[in-house]
Amino acid sequence: MTDGAPSTSNRTPAVQAGLSDPATIVSFSEAQLGEVRRLQSVYPDARGALLPVLHMAQETFGYISLEVEEYVAALFDLSPAHVHEVVTFYTLYFRERPGRHIVAVCHNLSCHLAGAPGIIAHLKQKLGVDPGETTADRRVTFLTVECLCACEAAPMAQVDDRYELNLTPEKIDRLLEGLP
Ligand code: FES
Repeated sequence: MTDGAPSTSNRTPAVQAGLSDPATIVSFSEAQLGEVRRLQSVYPDARGALLPVLHMAQETFGYISLEVEEYVAALFDLSPAHVHEVVTFYTLYFRERPGRHIVAVCHNLSCHLAGAPGIIAHLKQKLGVDPGETTADRRVTFLTVECLCACEAAPMAQVDDRYELNLTPEKIDRLLEGLP
């Protein structure tokens, strides 16, 4: 090892996730393993790269299963229990396959005061699910989350990769109609 990052290439066998889809075999590509090593090398402590690597894992495998936790833990020489604690602490890591779209409404103080409870109630009624649940057609996973640092435009939500600001029930309706 020359860059100070833990070696990963010889001790991280693919993990079979136990699902029927062959794509669920848990293994990064060589290019992704190179990116893991690069990320680990930019932090004084390689564990600093754990969150971005978990995001990469989620994008690759769809969600963070126990098998994915085990695989990522091996990449960092950490216990699976340590990685599990991290995954369960943050709301935007999914432990089950989410819907095709994520609607995550901030319910922290600024958004709460600006009307987030009404936005959340409207979404519950429109989607027919509670926060933390996915619609029956798997189109939308609905979450409530802590401050996303856009308090000046409260109430707000993250819809997939973008922020939607100054929400109103009418804006929510347009957003939902625009989700394929
Ligand atoms: S309180 Fe909602 S973005 Fe900060």
